[in-house]
Amino acid sequence: MGQKRVLVTREPEQFKAILATKFDSFGHCPQWHKLWRPFLGDGIFATDGQQLQHRRWMVRPMVVKNRLSNLILFGAYANKLLSKLLAQAATVDLKDPFYRWALGTTTDFLLPVAPLIPKGDYYRAIRKMEESMEPFLAGAIALVESELEKLSQSDMQFTIARISKDPKTIRDQVMSVLLAGRDTTAATMSWAMYGISNYPAAWARVRREVFDVLGPNEKPTYEALEDLKYVKNVIDKTMRLLPAVLVNMRQALETTTIPGAPGERDIVLLQGDRVTINTLGMHARRDLYPRRRRFADPAIYL
Ligand code: HEM
Repeated sequence: MGQKRVLVTREPEQFKAILATKFDSFGHCPQWHKLWRPFLGDGIFATDGQQLQHRRWMVRPMVVKNRLSNLILFGAYANKLLSKLLAQAATVDLKDPFYRWALGTTTDFLLPVAPLIPKGDYYRAIRKMEESMEPFLAGAIALVESELEKLSQSDMQFTIARISKDPKTIRDQVMSVLLAGRDTTAATMSWAMYGISNYPAAWARVRREVFDVLGPNEKPTYEALEDLKYVKNVIDKTMRLLPAVLVNMRQALETTTIPGAPGERDIVLLQGDRVTINTLGMHARRDLYPRRRRFADPAIYL
């Protein structure tokens, strides 16, 4: 009595059950909600069950392909990043500029406000983010039908106005997507640069492919990104060896089963049991990824 059971898994079939096939049987524990409420409110990463399904439905239009495929915004931030790097001395710690770049891009992608650079303690930083986004969100919520008709469907104010008229709901969703898009991207880019910097041959191949596909001055198009296959391999390999989200957590919302390890019986999880999804651990398994423990050659995935 009173004891907590925690299953730590690095079995792909168990990941699949928890995150996909038995999605409705798992959620976030009350401590998780409490921990994240000041930042994420009732957004997509802090809700369960029907509320989560509704939140997912709300977020989808924010990240649809026709918005993502407009690369002008991404290009502008990439140029800004490069100009800052080029203005500095030969040795640069890339992590900080990548975090700023990712926050700037994600903010601008969601809301055309000044890039959010929160400083200071946690709650002050959250308040500052809220103050930056409030005018844009209030503007979207206040739009009447005749004004909405004049906006393009890919306009973020249009998307937001259609999602909900409740300021808190909108705020929580936008904050969640900012969280989702910033640290993950910045950490992945930082690790990719770190990984590849140790392998000059891989670095040379990335350069060659970018020149071959885009030319020296061409602006990338969404379609051209498809042809950057080696670059994609570098990112894939980075996400395997050094995943930005190392572990994930869930709690059984009801008593359920998940597959056992290969050749073993199913595992019964009681309502309230916790699961730690050890992504880094799974990615390091020799039986799943033989000979693929080092960054050395991203072409292995080609
Ligand atoms: C390399 C970059 C990224 C990585 C490694 C990453 C990783 C993840 C992971 C592991 C989850 C699952 C979280 C969970 O269920 O507990 C997730 C969900 C999500 N991510 Fe990302 N992410 C990345 C970039 C982005 C970007 C750029 C955006 C949007 C601007 C984004 C938006 C979302 C959303 C909306 C969800 C929730 C999806 C749902 O539950 O339906 N992510 N991401």
